[in-house]
Amino acid sequence: MGTPFLEIKGVKKAFNGRVVLDGIDLTVDRGSITTIMGKSGIGKSVLLKCIAGLVDYDAGEILLDGQSCIGANCGKDSPRLSYLFQQNALFDSMTAAENVAFPLVETTRMRRREIRRKVKELFEQLDLGDVANKYPAEMSGGMQKRVALGRALITQPQLILFDEPTTGLDPQRKNSVFTMVADYRKRFDFTAVMVSHDIPEALFVSDRVAWVDKGVVRFVGSPTDLELTRDPELVEFVHHRNGLLSDLAGQQGRSALFSDWPELRKKFDEFIVATCATERRRPGSDLGLKRFVSYREAVSSVKDLAREGSSIYFLDERHFGFAVKSKPDQPPLAQVLRSLKELNDAQPLTVMTSYQWSARSYRLAALPSPSALWTLEDLPSADVVSANALSA
Ligand SMILES: Nc1ncnc2c1ncn2[C@@H]1O[C@H](COP(=O)(O)OP(=O)(O)OP(=O)(O)O)[C@@H](O)[C@H]1O
Ligand SMILES: [Mg+2]
Repeated sequence: MGTPFLEIKGVKKAFNGRVVLDGIDLTVDRGSITTIMGKSGIGKSVLLKCIAGLVDYDAGEILLDGQSCIGANCGKDSPRLSYLFQQNALFDSMTAAENVAFPLVETTRMRRREIRRKVKELFEQLDLGDVANKYPAEMSGGMQKRVALGRALITQPQLILFDEPTTGLDPQRKNSVFTMVADYRKRFDFTAVMVSHDIPEALFVSDRVAWVDKGVVRFVGSPTDLELTRDPELVEFVHHRNGLLSDLAGQQGRSALFSDWPELRKKFDEFIVATCATERRRPGSDLGLKRFVSYREAVSSVKDLAREGSSIYFLDERHFGFAVKSKPDQPPLAQVLRSLKELNDAQPLTVMTSYQWSARSYRLAALPSPSALWTLEDLPSADVVSANALSA
């Protein structure tokens, strides 16, 4: 990191006289992950297309590794770039494996056998083994997304542009895509520019965040800078995303958790994260609403436990958190688990999915930030009291 790998200077673009980009300035460090966010229709995809050389801009300059010619027609010495389209753009007449192999077949002289080996390996890494021979029409939206991601990764590009790589994926897959982007970035040493609406998940893997509004980059900084921003419109934008989910559940949002975190650590002892998981879904089962209704019931089943001064936080479609003051005679984790168990026993078959409820309790004072709750979930340590009684 350090050298700007991508430099965008004063880029302007209008369509039929309607200005979309009005002087975009942004630099991206080599090897970093930058997330671009902004309202729908603000020009994020247009900006990525300008970077990829797919759309001609009206003014300004874009340099990639010091070169101004970007894209497929710039010769073999130009920086390698991949673009993951928002709409996947898979070839309907090709299987998943053929789609992923396509860039290698088209742009390299690699042998068929070597291509097959690489594709197979990537499919395994993307957990896509069983769709290799399927056509896009036979795949779910989530699978298509992962196949498209595979196609973007197969050439081991130096810059990858991800246009909403997680749209249409369930929360677990979303996180695995972000984790994979971060993991691949380390292994293959590429630079990533990503458009994402998944705040805060995308931010956990991002080095920088840029907010595009009214044709310009109105904010750029680290995820921590974003948390501290006082720009009321940006705060509104960031919180609105969680607010939408929070409204449905009638709970406070995860963004509130971020801003309240220092207070919580002072005021409460424990943070209990309850996970309402649809771990073993039947293929094609209706995610979304049904799960949401049950999620909501899970939240309300523990809501009554909230004693004076405690708080419930709605975290995402699968998790909620419960900040409590410990009382030795009434361990809150046990109470949360009991309520969830009652709920689970009462309506095990009202949804198509098989639910697993679990809850873990973390010492608030020992956790550096809300994001740690998610990493800790995978890495229980001595500081973490865990229980998984309900899935049994
Ligand atoms: N080829 C085009 N011709 C005319 N207008 C276009 C073209 N491409 C994009 N636009 C317009 O530019 C604006 C920005 O579009 P863009 O797709 O970049 O938005 P976005 O920020 O990516 O939105 P979303 O979050 O919904 O994907 C929109 O008003 C869109 O209609
Ligand atoms: Mg877009």
